[in-house]
Amino acid sequence: MNLEEIERQAKEEISKASDVQQLQLIKAKYLGKKGYITLALREITKVPPEQRREYGSRLNQLKELVENLVRQAEDRIRKETIEKEIRSSWQELTVSLPKYAGAIHPITQTLQRIQDIFVSMGFSVEEGPEVELESYNFDLLNIPKEHPARDMQDTFYVNKEGYLLRTHTSPVQIRVMLSKKPPIYMIAPGRVYRRDDDPTHSPVFHQVEGLVVNESANFKHMKYTIEVFLKEFFEREVPVRFRASYFPFTEPSAEVDIGCLVCGGEGCRVCKGSGWLEVMGCGMVHPQVLENCGIDSELYQGFAFGMGVERLCMLYFGIDNIKLFYENDLRFLRQFRWS
Ligand code: DAH
Repeated sequence: MNLEEIERQAKEEISKASDVQQLQLIKAKYLGKKGYITLALREITKVPPEQRREYGSRLNQLKELVENLVRQAEDRIRKETIEKEIRSSWQELTVSLPKYAGAIHPITQTLQRIQDIFVSMGFSVEEGPEVELESYNFDLLNIPKEHPARDMQDTFYVNKEGYLLRTHTSPVQIRVMLSKKPPIYMIAPGRVYRRDDDPTHSPVFHQVEGLVVNESANFKHMKYTIEVFLKEFFEREVPVRFRASYFPFTEPSAEVDIGCLVCGGEGCRVCKGSGWLEVMGCGMVHPQVLENCGIDSELYQGFAFGMGVERLCMLYFGIDNIKLFYENDLRFLRQFRWS
């Protein structure tokens, strides 16, 4: 074969190669030990001396050309292989979408909205275990042994001495105070358990706990924080009142009410005629609780609050039975597409 013929044929074969093995064979056919170009180089001795220089340089050019073409073909084949893989693994998702797109559960939506509001105010989000130490759930929170909240009626105990299913998210306060130094600005969302079961109580429900500890936290800061939260959560100005109350872990303690969203304060079935709805508990962290966690109560003070997520969710969406959250009835759940 003359050199033109070799060039023409090499170009054609390389351009048609569709996989790496094929290309290797073609490469060997031209550039390998017994390849056309290699043999042609050897035959230089048969070329008349005056033509050798030109023949040699022509042959070198051809060798370079074929090497380049092989390299380009390698690139091309690599790209084609990747494209083929992508094409074969591509899933046309829009085709297989079910008739009804999923919706985010209203409790999850509510938890997310509560967290967003507090995160925007600079709070961190903490977590604690649902199977909790009895001492964190009760003792360190200043809930004495004979307190009614400890009654077997309210608490689920587990088969291990000293452990229980947490009855509130307040033990997360303890965990955070034991492990971090003030200033603390945290919320703790999570699932809690109580032996309650009626249209407004479920044995499993959700709470969000809040805790601020620093050198100057006071009742006004707490009031402001809660008022801003409630306004953001309900997306409107709502009347808020703080009613003196009692919790063992706060002193003073208060319960927070908002003007009834249903009747606007006139008095109706939802607010049981009072015009007010209770939405959370709060108070200044009891100095004993700070001390229990190794925080000097002479230097630091704090406020805390705890809210029921189901309750806030029911008020926000106008849902009248807590059981609806746990029945997984699609007719209910589909109404909560995230807008
Ligand atoms: N842990 C209380 C409950 O489950 C709620 C609560 C009230 C939490 C007052 C607090 C607080 O942090 O200060 O009923």
